[in-house]
Amino acid sequence: MKEIDWANLSFGYIKTDYNVRIYYRNEQWGELEVCSEETIPMHMAATCLHYGQEAFEGLKAFRGKDGKVRIFRLEENAARLQSTCRGILMPELSTERFREAVLKAVKLNERFIPPYESGASLYIRPLLIGTSAQVGVHPATEYLFVIFVTPVGPYFRGGFATNPYVIIREFDRAAPLGTGIYKVGGNYAASLRANKKAHDLGYSSEFYLDAKEKKYIDECGAANFFGIRNNTYITPKSTSILPSITNKSLMQLAEDMGLKVERRPVPEEELNLFEEAGACGTAAVISPIERIDDVESGKSYVIAKDGKPGPVCTKLYNKLRGIQYGDEPDTHGWVTIVE
Ligand code: PLP
Ligand code: COI
Repeated sequence: MKEIDWANLSFGYIKTDYNVRIYYRNEQWGELEVCSEETIPMHMAATCLHYGQEAFEGLKAFRGKDGKVRIFRLEENAARLQSTCRGILMPELSTERFREAVLKAVKLNERFIPPYESGASLYIRPLLIGTSAQVGVHPATEYLFVIFVTPVGPYFRGGFATNPYVIIREFDRAAPLGTGIYKVGGNYAASLRANKKAHDLGYSSEFYLDAKEKKYIDECGAANFFGIRNNTYITPKSTSILPSITNKSLMQLAEDMGLKVERRPVPEEELNLFEEAGACGTAAVISPIERIDDVESGKSYVIAKDGKPGPVCTKLYNKLRGIQYGDEPDTHGWVTIVE
């Protein structure tokens, strides 16, 4: 294996040794198979290719100071995948089977789990696709569940450092009663133009407003939003955003720290009032927000006035990372230790 520069990994794909696969045929899931191929042979009329029967997940494994490997909240990812399956009519994989597959994929690729000191982690990417042929718009009868893993560094520039974001009004990511609450590829296809525009303008990522009224903050392309003010953790309640497991965890940690937690619509103007704000997700962890510009309306909301991550974001970040790497006690039972 070519030496991996653990401390300077970006969020990208590095080939690992194995992936694991489970096929759904004749109305049932089969045995787990171990595979070293990176490709998937498939019928050209597979429903994932034409009609977007595709769901994915994202979670991480961390190597601790004690050498142990911890996987963060895998039951939550299993449950969200099950919800996505109900959303786009795919067969659900049980939490037990999901756990078996995640553990197998991590163990088989142990040598790719970054060392504790690097601050990097192993990203775990489950994927579920409709594989049987359909020309009419109907769900497939056969499916493939795959998990691959790849070592990753920070998703946003600089890791835990403030970045500028931009509200893009021109494109919607998801409709109020659409698929925004599910982790399906179509949402990300719908985000590509807005994401490119944000990058072309020099921003870290795009922010979406609610598609109906264009008044409330929804989320960014690959992370939820939260803001801090008056000792309160505030995060959008919306029918078009992904229920982030990181956000759910931060709400709990904020409460543990004595903050109030509010999940409610967040009007754009409220951005003026936040003392701190962040984008949060498995890939993003917490990416503190320097400012959010609304280029089309000409407004700019500067949140980190000194350009630095604020004290509450810093405390939440340290606590979350501490639990993930095993430096802090796992009081909520969020971590699975790989034996
Ligand atoms: N929102 C979107 C659109 C995402 O793609 C992600 C990443 O998974 C998140 C939010 C954060 O979710 P989680 O914290 O479960 O990774
Ligand atoms: C994640 O945070 O796990 C994501 O899925 C973000 C992105 C790479 C789509």
